[in-house]
Amino acid sequence: HIKEVIYKESVESTQTIAKEYFSFKEDNFVVIAEEQTKGVGRFKREWKSPNNGGFYGSFVFRGSVNKDKLPAFNLFISLALVETFKYYTDDIVLKWPNDVYLQGKKVSGILTECYKTSEEEGIILGIGINLNRTNQSLVDTAITLSDVFESEVNMSLFTNQLLKKINHYYDLYLSVPFCEVRDEYLRYSNALGKEFTITTHDEQFNGKAIDIDDRGFLKVYDESGKIRTIMSADLNI
Ligand code: BTN
Repeated sequence: HIKEVIYKESVESTQTIAKEYFSFKEDNFVVIAEEQTKGVGRFKREWKSPNNGGFYGSFVFRGSVNKDKLPAFNLFISLALVETFKYYTDDIVLKWPNDVYLQGKKVSGILTECYKTSEEEGIILGIGINLNRTNQSLVDTAITLSDVFESEVNMSLFTNQLLKKINHYYDLYLSVPFCEVRDEYLRYSNALGKEFTITTHDEQFNGKAIDIDDRGFLKVYDESGKIRTIMSADLNI
């Protein structure tokens, strides 16, 4: 469970602040900022984080990290996001591994990092969610939750709802294997059966998604018809 919430006004990135606090804290905690001036996304992309525009938080879960279990961890967290969004809308789509889409546009993303000091290790889970429109424009492929909810989203209510769901799904992740929630995940995922350009950290190829396996890995047919199992990637139609 998250035992402490640390609020900041403006920071470069909550990921960095979480790492700075890691050695000084004993329990799990989350750093939440009102604004980030250098928010980072997956594949070193920028994550726009204007003041009062969204939820920007980095959760620290201490304990040894088994890299093979990270895909499952990410998918459990995606379900926590889905359950939180459900207070506002029913029209939710998950893009494997863990982007949430509303009306065909991205509303939230997750950046999961392993962090190690000389004494301890843990997961730093960064979550960015576009909640309300600000005067800073968003890219055309992004949407805010308020666009769909058709009303301003109350930031502190949303944060409370999210923290509860993250705690719940983190507990579930620790206690049951991914296959127990696989059907639930597939209810929201639109990947299976579709063709994608798949970009991993070291290559790019075209493939057709055929399954999300018991560990949360994506199985695809590549162009030569060979089955490949992917731990994490960026999928583009
Ligand atoms: C993605 O590329 O989809 C992941 C985006 C993750 C953004 C969050 S916002 C809070 C935390 N701090 C950062 O700088 N990035 C993550």
